[in-house]
Amino acid sequence: MTMVTERRVLRPARPDDREGIEQLLIARGLPTAGAPAHLGAFMVAEEGSALVGCAGIERYGEVGLFRSLAVSEESAGRGLGTALVARSLELAGQLGLRSLFLLTTTAADYFPRFGFQPIPRGALPTSLAQSEELRGACPATATAMRLLLPAR
Ligand SMILES: CC(C)(COP(=O)(O)OP(=O)(O)OC[C@H]1O[C@@H](n2cnc3c(N)ncnc32)[C@H](O)[C@@H]1OP(=O)(O)O)[C@@H](O)C(=O)NCCC(=O)NCCS
Repeated sequence: MTMVTERRVLRPARPDDREGIEQLLIARGLPTAGAPAHLGAFMVAEEGSALVGCAGIERYGEVGLFRSLAVSEESAGRGLGTALVARSLELAGQLGLRSLFLLTTTAADYFPRFGFQPIPRGALPTSLAQSEELRGACPATATAMRLLLPAR
């Protein structure tokens, strides 16, 4: 059997990653609305020349919305999602965020390992109301979750 090990790179997204990110989000059934406007706080994962993962933060003052965590079907289950969350949490710290929130319909059982806890949707900060995800891109039935970040 021939094993091909592609070089894996995690890096901040560039403007020309927009299309690749949108394609990945669509392929993994996640909303694209609002993502381009927040590309500056997105991370991407590449294997070889393929964009195989992404995750992003929408920043609203000291509050962030963690969104668009996606790993391609072919690359799933090998720690990429974990690596993208870890890098995004580092970035959240660098941005001076005090808490991160997210909405999910598919992965409420994935996020507690990183410290996210479910909260009532009504407990989301009002500053997040301007996010496309809260304005309808994400279904009302989605689970809301929160992670408090250490003070720096
Ligand atoms: C969720 C997702 C990002 C995980 O990425 P990944 O690279 O496959 O995950 P990792 O390799 O870091 O972790 C694998 C572990 O997570 C678990 N896991 C993966 N997806 C999960 C999900 N949707 N819900 C609960 N657990 C999940 C696996 O069972 C595995 O568990 P184990 O460590 O006990 O064996 C990826 O499956 C994905 O893109 N899913 C579709 C999009 C999505 O639902 N994104 C979240 C939107 S908020």
